Amino acid sequence: MTHGMRKGLTSYGDPGFSLFLRKAFIKAMGLTDDALKRPIVGIANTGSDYNACHGNVPQLIDAIKRGVMLAGGLPMAFPTISIHESFAHPTSMFLRNLMAMDTEEMIRAQPMDAVVLIGGCDKTIPAQLMAAASADLPAIVVPVGPMLVGHYQGEQLGACTDCRRLWGEFRGGRLDEIEINAINERLAPTTGTCMVMGTASTMACMTEAMGLTLPLAASIPATHADRLRSAEASGRQAVAMASANSPRPSELITAASLRNALVVLQAIGGSTNGLIHLTAAAGRLGLKLDLDDFDRLGRAVPVLVDLKPSGAHYMEHFHWAGGVPRLLRELGELVDLDARTVLGGTLRECVDGAEFVRDQAVIRPRSAPVKPVGSMAVLGGNLAPRGALIKQSAASPALMTHRGRAVVFESVQDLTERIDDPALDVNADDVLVLRNAGPIGAPGMPEAGYLPIPRKLAEQGVKDMVRLSDARMSGTAFGTIVLHIAPEAAAGGPLALVRNGDLISLDVPARRIELLVEDAELDRRRAAAPSAATAPPDRGYAALFHRSVLQADEGCDFDFLVPGRALRGESPT
Ligand code: FES
Repeated sequence: MTHGMRKGLTSYGDPGFSLFLRKAFIKAMGLTDDALKRPIVGIANTGSDYNACHGNVPQLIDAIKRGVMLAGGLPMAFPTISIHESFAHPTSMFLRNLMAMDTEEMIRAQPMDAVVLIGGCDKTIPAQLMAAASADLPAIVVPVGPMLVGHYQGEQLGACTDCRRLWGEFRGGRLDEIEINAINERLAPTTGTCMVMGTASTMACMTEAMGLTLPLAASIPATHADRLRSAEASGRQAVAMASANSPRPSELITAASLRNALVVLQAIGGSTNGLIHLTAAAGRLGLKLDLDDFDRLGRAVPVLVDLKPSGAHYMEHFHWAGGVPRLLRELGELVDLDARTVLGGTLRECVDGAEFVRDQAVIRPRSAPVKPVGSMAVLGGNLAPRGALIKQSAASPALMTHRGRAVVFESVQDLTERIDDPALDVNADDVLVLRNAGPIGAPGMPEAGYLPIPRKLAEQGVKDMVRLSDARMSGTAFGTIVLHIAPEAAAGGPLALVRNGDLISLDVPARRIELLVEDAELDRRRAAAPSAATAPPDRGYAALFHRSVLQADEGCDFDFLVPGRALRGESPT
């Protein structure tokens, strides 16, 4: 097997010439033959002026390079797509698979013996995990780290759980223009990822629990010196991995480590998006997450981490309480400590090294959990034949069993236009239904599942309602919200059959979401034309996405990227 600069030579029909030419060009950067003989560590640079969460990437690259060189390797940084939540149209999820393809192909195309993946903002680490699993080159993830908290009028603020809550207060007329503008300046006070247990923090914690980062890499604040020390150590470790050609992602992403990640997802009150992204990464290695198993874990694993949006604290508090190693220690036999890590040993060694912080209240023992059951429940029923998800830790207990009249919105656009219409026929007991907002329908399954409370109800003080959709929601959101209904309406799912005024029953203890309409009537509706999804795009990435994206229960990956998966619409042979 070839290594370093000799790896993956460009095809000119003469390998000697290919190497000669490659070295001629790289020597233009002043490199010596000694440098070119070293193991090469690629560093995926996701810095971008459009990605404020990744504002510390230049410093992280410097630290990683230092670590690589101290260990005798040659660091080579290269750019990839970078995605920020608020700067991606129509939605960041639409671009996740593109970033995964870009990252995978750049790892394959360029000579490197190991790769350091700098990720953070919501879709970036998922894309990198998918890419790393497919490329299967030794890889270590360096999260950019969470932001510090903001402050307003003596209150701690966190992006973006408090963004939604305070915007809701503004919509309800309880905050004025001056106050909301002041808050806007303080919600994201530093570089780094959202400091609540949103998707970015969730993915970082699950990635650490799978052994794909150094211990504590998920939680060290983005602005702290420890973050740079961790990056330097990751660079050093990448050289050891490059020399040993191990561990590769396929050695680390296993049934045991995936289960550990799911246990952590439940215990941290993590983002619902975590399940979709983990499903996609596992799928790249032919591994399947079982939704029923995940639901069973939810009944066995308590929520132990007291972070917003399910709890009270923020990522920096989680870090100072001991972070993921301390959490894994508290989870005890619920996690498999024999799972391997990038350090070459097992998770047990990381847990043994966990700092024991006395009298902290952020990471609870199992004897005094934040919530006695896990954060998420998987629902079935006639509205969700292939499953749906509810984040019960962020839902209203009074609405966990509820029956109400459907108020249907045909699309995100329809929702935007009508939700605040004073003439909208809606009461606090109704069930808000959004369809055609799934992977195909929207497209890209936007985070539209957090349907706003209609203004006229918000002004009356209504804070939560049952809401359901085939969309996703931000990991920072809260409410009694049923998401990821599969199949989606645009793929012929029963969500397309709901009509205004139909009764819908949500029963979280029984894990059911039901449309209370006779089967014969549903058959009649099915035979009539279903709600029209948007017209399929006819060119470019959008057309590829429309043709190939899988449903939420399969991680919304592209069919042709999942080994052994039949192309959508074709039966497996
Ligand atoms: Fe980047 Fe929240 S917007 S992590």
